[in-house]
Amino acid sequence: MATLSFVAFSLCLLFFSLAQGLSNNPQCSEAKDQGSNLQVFHVYSPCSPFRPTKPMSWEESVLQMQADDQARLQFLSSLVAKKSVVPIASGRQIIQSPTYIVRAKIGTPPQTLLLAVDTSNDAAWVPCNGCVGCGSNVFNSAKSTTYKTLGCQTAQCKQVPNPTCLGSTCSFNTSYGSSTLAANLSQETFTLATDVVPGYTFGCLQKTTGSSVPPQGLLGLGRGPLSLLSQTQNLYQSTFSYCLPSFKSLNFSGSLRLGPVGQPKRIKYTPLLKNPRRSSLYYVNLNAIRVGRRIVDIPPAALAFNPTTGAGTIIDSGTVFTRLVEPAYVAVRNEFRRRVGKYPFQTLGGFDTCYSVPFVVPTITFMFSGMNVTLPEDNIVIHSTAGSITCLAMAAAPDNVNSVLNVIANMQQQNHRVLIDVPNSRLGVARERCT
Ligand SMILES: *[C@@H]1O[C@H](CO)[C@@H](O)[C@H](O)[C@H]1NC(C)=O
Ligand SMILES: *[C@@H]1O[C@H](CO)[C@@H](O)[C@H](O)[C@H]1NC(C)=O
Ligand SMILES: *[C@@H]1O[C@H](CO)[C@@H](O)[C@H](O)[C@H]1NC(C)=O
Ligand SMILES: *[C@@H]1O[C@H](CO)[C@@H](O)[C@H](O)[C@H]1NC(C)=O
Repeated sequence: MATLSFVAFSLCLLFFSLAQGLSNNPQCSEAKDQGSNLQVFHVYSPCSPFRPTKPMSWEESVLQMQADDQARLQFLSSLVAKKSVVPIASGRQIIQSPTYIVRAKIGTPPQTLLLAVDTSNDAAWVPCNGCVGCGSNVFNSAKSTTYKTLGCQTAQCKQVPNPTCLGSTCSFNTSYGSSTLAANLSQETFTLATDVVPGYTFGCLQKTTGSSVPPQGLLGLGRGPLSLLSQTQNLYQSTFSYCLPSFKSLNFSGSLRLGPVGQPKRIKYTPLLKNPRRSSLYYVNLNAIRVGRRIVDIPPAALAFNPTTGAGTIIDSGTVFTRLVEPAYVAVRNEFRRRVGKYPFQTLGGFDTCYSVPFVVPTITFMFSGMNVTLPEDNIVIHSTAGSITCLAMAAAPDNVNSVLNVIANMQQQNHRVLIDVPNSRLGVARERCT
């Protein structure tokens, strides 16, 4: 076993010990939000007010991210399965932990909030004045001239879960991970970068319980009803791309680019698949996985898309480390270990393939329909800059009945541009340094 005593690892130094706030770090400046381009930052970045105040060790932060993933995976599984069969388990501390945030200006005059972006959710919600259980940073609707609540008879009210009428206001309750939330269905002017979206329909939170709700709200980038894509079809034509910065980098200069303008021309595409049972998830066809030059032996059922069971592969921005269903992961891991060769491997938390000596990292290629994506080392292993331990940064999906989903997670997407092009039903990937 690796000794867990190595301390003050650069990751935690980078993450946690910088004292700059949002306002005085030029990298975090609002001026960087231009046109339809929003800066994206990691929730633990120096730009983020949500970074832990108490320094964490590398193990603590990585193990925390893994624990969050475990819960998110269960949540994603519960989305694809039949609702009646799989209730969301109660008592989980953190079911969802979207790890990247963008800045949105809400209302007239605008109030700035940092919303978590989540490609596997449709809704937008923001903590509002009068909210019980929200943090101190809320949107004050009383100070905006463009705020309005929606009535119970509106078409939008029929699209929210559990709508009820409070007076004439459409209000709804839902759960999000271990949290429950109650919100007024409202409309307001949202300004994303410098694009103004009037009359954006969102949930104005009035009550939350639990700790899963992102502190300043959520911007769902799924494609179901009431999502950003559905509400801005004229403006953005259901097209957006993002580049997620590495969580090791100081720059945190990722971006969310909305609309077809300015998207990369040189990019490889794979068809986007639709699961009618869960329209907001971005499914793709992962046909095979190559480790080095060898295509590993994975039973076809482990990768096959099946809208009925929810099986298949999704690209998700909220899970940190890629999870493959057991037979797929075992095949990848065994070949990875075989190629690394003579060194003994060890485990660290949920990672089962770690080494405490330097080694040549084999490449891993995801072979999607029409698109091979070969990951560079930075997207394959997580390691200490001191070099004391390096782990294959993937794991098997949680072992439960709904474990049918392969999730390509954000660590494996960092420093790539991922383009979602719904009109042409395709998803593009290109390398791009955004840190
Ligand atoms: C939410 O709706 C309730 C009931 O109509 C109302 O009392 C409250 O002021 C509303 N709050 C916001 C922020 O819209
Ligand atoms: C929603 O939550 C509020 C506040 O907790 C509660 O008063 C109301 O009855 C709930 N409505 C539904 C439909 O569950
Ligand atoms: C992906 O790589 C395989 C070889 O491993 C090759 O046969 C195939 O044509 C490639 N696919 C694309 C779309 O480039
Ligand atoms: C940060 O960005 C600057 C310029 O944008 C670049 O020169 C520098 O190498 C970047 N640093 C890191 C750690 O990526």
